[in-house]
Amino acid sequence: MTEQTLNGRVALVTGGTTGIGFGSAKRLLEHGATVYITGRRKDVLEAAVAKLGKGAHGIQADATVKADMQRVADAIKAAHGQLDVLFANAGGGHATPLPELTEQQIDSELSINIKGVILTMQSMLGVLRNGASVVLNASITADMGLKGFGVYAATKAAVRSLARSWTTDLKNRDIRVNTISPGVVPTEGYGKEQKMTDQQVKDYVDRVSTEIPAGRVGTVEDIGDALVFLASDASGYVRGIDLVVDGGMTRVYAGKN
Ligand SMILES: NC(=O)c1ccc[n+]([C@@H]2O[C@H](COP(=O)([O-])OP(=O)(O)OC[C@H]3O[C@@H](n4cnc5c(N)ncnc54)[C@H](OP(=O)(O)O)[C@@H]3O)[C@@H](O)[C@H]2O)c1
Repeated sequence: MTEQTLNGRVALVTGGTTGIGFGSAKRLLEHGATVYITGRRKDVLEAAVAKLGKGAHGIQADATVKADMQRVADAIKAAHGQLDVLFANAGGGHATPLPELTEQQIDSELSINIKGVILTMQSMLGVLRNGASVVLNASITADMGLKGFGVYAATKAAVRSLARSWTTDLKNRDIRVNTISPGVVPTEGYGKEQKMTDQQVKDYVDRVSTEIPAGRVGTVEDIGDALVFLASDASGYVRGIDLVVDGGMTRVYAGKN
């Protein structure tokens, strides 16, 4: 039997200072990995590393800047020689009615969700070991046709496509590439990116929970648990998939029970 353990593994989580990235870093650490997290805000990065504790390291870096990501790769190579797990998680976006979309929003979402993921992957190629596991953070929105989320959803569809292409590109190195599509997971991003007030988040969570077969919205640790599976040898035969982690929201009709 293959054990689901990450003892001795080195992992990188981009955008690991809050939300899903932070919860994922926490789970990777709990399973024995040494974990590097990145983010743009120095104070938030330092606080996150302190909170994660032993085995956690932070490097301030913008995923949309090639030189930053190369610096991250060089630091990991110098300290450990290789990277076993990459979670390209940094991303974001928000709903905007089509007529109100600005060029700035389009550029920003394409940049962090597509260009950032490509630069992250490209920069890590020299440090990823043969047989490594790469996971890209996508989203259920890519399938849903949600009002106002056209650009964001399209970027996440692109992320899924990248995972399939890279599965082929990296076949000769036995590097596995998969995506996770989280469902509704309330994080800092709901306030920061989607400009929702705490009350709006609470109302949304109450409403949507009745439509989710699991009966609740997701937690950042739920996504971390799925990541641990894809990162570990237990998923050794899993390649190019999209692992939907949404409590059944998009695969099962739960009705308003
Ligand atoms: N929460 C959900 O319901 C949900 C559902 C589906 C998919 N997702 C996806 O999950 C990922 C994480 O979202 P979240 O909800 O956890 O958001 P979040 O709480 O806002 O966290 C975003 C993280 O990414 C970092 N970040 C943002 N831009 C960056 C950049 N250019 N370079 C490096 N780091 C950057 C942020 O730190 P700094 O701002 O300091 O850089 C922070 O650490 C995103 O890809 C999102 O699209 C989320």
